[in-house]
Amino acid sequence: MDKLSSLLQALNGSTPTSVPIWFMRQAGRSLPEYRDIKGSTPILDLLKNPEIVKTITLQPVSRHNVDAAILYSDIVLPLLVAGIDLRIEAGTGPKITEPFNTPNDTEKLNGDVVNSIPSKLDFVGEAVKLIVSEANVPLIGFAGGPFTLACYLIDGESSKTWSKTKSFMRTFPEAFSLLLNNLALLCAQFIRVQLLSGASVFQVFDSWVGVLDRCDFERFVVPSINAIRSSLSDFNQPMIYFGVNTSHLLDLMTSLEVDCIGIDWRISLTSAAESMNYNHSIQGNLDPSLLLSPFDVIKPIILQTLEEGMRIGGTNTKIGYIFNLGHGVLPETNPATITKTVELVHEFGRY
Ligand code: CP3
Repeated sequence: MDKLSSLLQALNGSTPTSVPIWFMRQAGRSLPEYRDIKGSTPILDLLKNPEIVKTITLQPVSRHNVDAAILYSDIVLPLLVAGIDLRIEAGTGPKITEPFNTPNDTEKLNGDVVNSIPSKLDFVGEAVKLIVSEANVPLIGFAGGPFTLACYLIDGESSKTWSKTKSFMRTFPEAFSLLLNNLALLCAQFIRVQLLSGASVFQVFDSWVGVLDRCDFERFVVPSINAIRSSLSDFNQPMIYFGVNTSHLLDLMTSLEVDCIGIDWRISLTSAAESMNYNHSIQGNLDPSLLLSPFDVIKPIILQTLEEGMRIGGTNTKIGYIFNLGHGVLPETNPATITKTVELVHEFGRY
């Protein structure tokens, strides 16, 4: 695994020879070789087949030469395994059959249910082992953040505002905190299986926390993320935390016990690092829609982001920098543009 060091060095604050690069949602999505394998098979069925998961996880690594693989799975998989009835609809995303309305509903995810999970995730561990034995780059494990999972459980399906979730949070704050705590333990179980099987790093995708104000982020989300870290205190692998639309929350994120913060594309890396007092490694943050334009148009913007990131993390600083997008790859992205972006970052990202 000759590239292990660039991602891990950036995460422990030392300086790699060149800036590591990977893309959120790099597996599946834009790749024709993924669509060939997927055909009309529902994604939740693909995720249960370790050989297929291995193949899809490694496709972007061999095509684009990125410096990390990310497990092909989904944030709602642990909910399904915990007995929550859900499906994933093509084009929209997860749909919960019976969304949570009252504190009673949250009993479906009580401590006993959560503790029974690891034995039901053997297929995930098996996939991770297959990937790690073949990959020449580190594997990033992941889970959804507790708040983001609660959004799907309560709103029932994708939403711009997650207003049912916010209303539940305000009406039943204690039940909501308890739910987030149980979801934190569920996330930790999902991540534990991946770390035990060989994942080198893990990222918590708390995609929808940006709909919260500062007060609710501090009250509900910060304890839930620190609960994940503390229930994984027997592991040393670094943790990355990412949310969308989080410019107003970045200074509060400095109280998270994580190694790296993923920066959304709406703010410059410099402003983000200033908000966080330069005390966490950073990852990001190209606008994913940039990759839809011709490469010569976007090249100067990629180089500017790279330059900013290298000024913040790397030589003479205590923190590291990982090149990424500010949210996931859009499905309509031309894969050739992703490959060229990797080449450019490898060429100009030398310390
Ligand atoms: O996009 C994000 O904000 C990242 C976090 C996240 C994932 N899944 C991680 C993921 C979220 C919010 C989801 C929920 C989800 N699941 C959605 C988004 C719906 C919404 O509300 O916007 C969708 C479409 C799904 C279903 C899903 N998950 C599909 C169809 C696939 C296969 C490939 C693809 O993206 O089309 C996934 C895989 C998936 N979801 C991965 C991750 C980290 C693994 C692939 C990768 O990261 O490369």
